[in-house]
Amino acid sequence: MPDPQLKLLYSRRQIAAQVKRLGEEISRDYADSEILLVGVLKGSFLFIADLARALSIPAQVDFVRLASYGSETQSSGIVEIRKDIELPLRGRDVIIVEDIVDSGYTLETLYHQLMQREPRSLKICTLINKTGRREVGIHADYVGMTLERGFIIGYGLDFDENYRHLPDIYLLGEA
Ligand code: IMP
Ligand code: MG
Repeated sequence: MPDPQLKLLYSRRQIAAQVKRLGEEISRDYADSEILLVGVLKGSFLFIADLARALSIPAQVDFVRLASYGSETQSSGIVEIRKDIELPLRGRDVIIVEDIVDSGYTLETLYHQLMQREPRSLKICTLINKTGRREVGIHADYVGMTLERGFIIGYGLDFDENYRHLPDIYLLGEA
């Protein structure tokens, strides 16, 4: 049973509806293309699995693992690649699949690093766009849900590596 200090924010049904919508949007926008989804580990592992299955176009999947320094709940802006993508990006239509954009530092850094590999196009898909603490002007092309503030867990999102396996998303209360 989920921890009692967790407050349900997005149910698995709400998440599934948004993932379906994103899959349809992406399939429409890339109707004549074969895309490469790049999931940002670990937080996007469930999202990318569901998103990939919501596509009706050919897709390949790869992963990148980043190391971000900062506290448990806030990133510092120093981001480096710990596990790189294995497929070449040059000339490909690439979509970065992220769990959540908060300050924006993680995605801004990754976006510029991947742009240097000369993909044909590079877009960003995030399950959650958290707007209240944005520090850099990063633009997500595809957004599942928008949230102003609050620390959330579940459906891939963790706090100190816990809760990633929960099928729903919860607000972590101030304990
Ligand atoms: P940013 O660099 O501040 O945009 O941080 C983005 C990263 O911080 C995400 O990839 C998440 O791993 C993590 N993060 C930010 N907010 C949350 C949250 O509410 N719950 C879980 N992880 C979060
Ligand atoms: Mg993350």
